[in-house]
Formats: sequence, C-alpha cells, structure tokens
Amino acid sequence: MLKLVGFSLLVLFSSERPATVEGVYDYYKYHPMSEIGVWMVQMKEDHPDLVTRVEYGTTYEKRTISLLKIGLKTNAIKKIAWMDCGIHASEWIAPAFCQYFVNQILQSYKTDAKIRRMMENLDFYVTPVLNVDGYIYSWKDSTTRLWRKNRKPGPSTGCYGTDLDLNFDANWGNLGASFNCSSDTFCGTNPESESEVKAVADLVRKQRGNFLCFLSIQSFGQLILFPYGDPNDTVPNYNELMKVGQDAAEAIKKVHGQNYTVGSFPNVLYPDSGSIRDWARMQGIRFSYTFKLRDKGTFQLPEDQIQPACEEAYRGALRVITHAHDQIYGGGAAATAATLWTLLLAAGVTLM
Ligand SMILES: *[C@@H]1O[C@H](CO)[C@@H](O)[C@H](O)[C@H]1NC(C)=O
Ligand SMILES: *[C@@H]1O[C@H](CO)[C@@H](O)[C@H](O)[C@H]1NC(C)=O
Ligand SMILES: *[C@@H]1O[C@H](CO)[C@@H](O)[C@H](O)[C@H]1NC(C)=O
Ligand SMILES: [Zn+2]
Repeated sequence: MLKLVGFSLLVLFSSERPATVEGVYDYYKYHPMSEIGVWMVQMKEDHPDLVTRVEYGTTYEKRTISLLKIGLKTNAIKKIAWMDCGIHASEWIAPAFCQYFVNQILQSYKTDAKIRRMMENLDFYVTPVLNVDGYIYSWKDSTTRLWRKNRKPGPSTGCYGTDLDLNFDANWGNLGASFNCSSDTFCGTNPESESEVKAVADLVRKQRGNFLCFLSIQSFGQLILFPYGDPNDTVPNYNELMKVGQDAAEAIKKVHGQNYTVGSFPNVLYPDSGSIRDWARMQGIRFSYTFKLRDKGTFQLPEDQIQPACEEAYRGALRVITHAHDQIYGGGAAATAATLWTLLLAAGVTLM
C-alpha cells in the first residue's frame, strides 16, 4: 500500500510540465486578438469548475475587455491576485505570458499542493489583453507594430491614443507624462479619461479590500518595479516590496540565469505618474509591481524567446503571489496526509 502511494506520488510529481500545450494551442507563438478571444472561451469550456470569463469594460472602439477568473468555487469571500497584460500594445510578450500563466496554473493545480491551496483561498484575475484596440492596431502591419497607446482620438485633430499606464488617478500628469496628444507619453485629458482605465479602476474599487497583490506585466528591460513613481514619495512598505521583489528576481534567475533588476520605478528607470502600479498601491493593495520581461532592448522579442521568458517570469510572479498569500493564510505546502490523499484521488479519477 505504502509502496503504491509512493509510486503514484513519484509519477505525479516527476512530470515537470504535464501537458503544457492544451489541445493544439501554441503558447510559444504570438497570437492576434481574435485567437486570444477564442482561447479565453476555450479555457472556460475546458475548466468549467475553475474558470469564468468576466467582461468588465469596453474599449474606445467598442470591444469588450475581459478577464479570466480562476479559482476553486467556495462559499467564502475569496482574496484576489490580479494580473494584467498588454496595457501597452507593442509589448506582445506580455499577453503571451498571461496565457502561459493561466495554462500553467490550470495544468498544475491537481498535482501541486501549493497551487491548489492558493486556488482555494484566492481567485486569480487575469486580463490577457487590457489595451485591446491598441493590440489589434499593433498587428495591422509593420508600420503600426510598435504602437503603444490606446486608439481614442485626442483633443486635437490627427492625434490618437493615450498611454493607459499614465492615465490612472495617481499623481496624474505630474511626472513623465505629456499633454501633447501626438506624444507616446500622452496621459489623457484627465485621470481615468480612458474607458480601459476606468474599467479597471471601477472593478478594483468595488472590492478593493480583497486584492492581495497586483501585477502589471509589461516589457522590456528585465525589471521588477514597485511604487511610487515620484522619487520624493516613498512607499510605506518599501523594504518589504524590495525584499519580495528580490526573492522573485532570485527565483527568475534560477530558471535560465537571467538577471532582473529590482527597485522603485524612479530609482531604476525614471519618474512617472498615473501608473496602474501606483494607483493599485494607493488603493491599499500591499504588493503592487510592474514586471518588465525580456529582453533588454526591444519590444519585439523574437518568438523563440517566448518559452524561456515565460518560464522564468512564471517563477517570479508566483513568488510574489505566494508571499502575499502566505502572509494571510500561512505558509506550508499543505503536504498533509489528507491533502496527499485528495491529490491521489483526484489524479486517479483523472487518469481513468
Ligand atoms: C507633439 O509631439 C509630436 C510628436 O512627438 C511632435 O512632433 C510635436 O512637435 C509636439 N508638439 C508640440 C506643440 O510640442
Ligand atoms: C523632490 O524634492 C526636491 C527637494 O524639495 C525638489 O527639488 C525636487 O524637484 C522634487 N522632485 C520631484 C520629482 O518632485
Ligand atoms: C548576471 O549578472 C552576473 C553578475 O553581474 C553576470 O556575471 C552574469 O553574466 C549575468 N547573466 C546574464 C545572463 O547576463
Ligand atoms: Zn510598458
């Protein structure tokens, strides 16, 4: 009996990446918005017990903004781990990462006791593409590939788009922002002037006490950045954000040896304002970071780097989420006899 248990566990835990590619979806290619939309529906259909699709806003061009809510359904009020990708249209690795992340947690929760426990306590809110109009525009042709902003016409004729990561109501317009609507750093006409930003802000405000952590996944630079964008404004849990960020960088480095730099946004890059990261922290969400993924020089990360970039960033993101989770629910991998039996039974059922 014991031998059987040991054997089953070995089988369960030895497959490092069980069925990474769900069906025929290729996680190591960039996908246009239409395919990402189909993929979202597919995730829901493949995992009806875990995944719901929440439509929470509309873009300027009247497209739906939606997230995947992922977690075990319980009667308790659950905490939330937020992840947005694609706030800047050109950063294609970000939506690719969100999709990879979703697939990984859905594949591993049956065999990974820690992920399962987090799925019991938390819902993951993952928005694969926040700036939907901009993303579609960046796929149009080679001249629009590096488009960054959304697609709302500006206040003067002939200019388009606001940088959504400068449009949040957090020291809006004061640092690193332009009021020239032709500029790539145009911050909008007022805080939350952009419907994409308003959608996020409204959703968070409705349940702000439940958010445990907030990750905005972007590129490039291999950076883990935390609030505030104003160099004269030190975040109250600076040391904690630095420590957890460094733990995440260490976890990343273990995967493929890549160096990630950790620090407050202005200390590492330049002062900014109106960011989703600062705004989330100002809502009282303790762990708020901007991850800038590979590489160190281009928004157009070659497709052959999607896999290593996602594999390492996954470990970094999980490190932050796990820390935030454990602070509330306690650590431990939940490797109790009861949990192991549950896992075995679940695996047995699936294997049959
Ligand atoms: C606005 O920005 C555009 C693009 O960067 C630039 O060409 C133009 O000169 C700017 N206009 C003003 C008034 O600064
Ligand atoms: C920070 O404070 C110093 C001293 O008061 C001031 O000179 C500087 O302009 C401030 N920086 C920003 C970005 O507000
Ligand atoms: C990371 O940084 C270390 C120390 O500076 C350096 O030796 C190493 O080559 C870097 N790794 C990569 C992949 O750049
Ligand atoms: Zn960005």
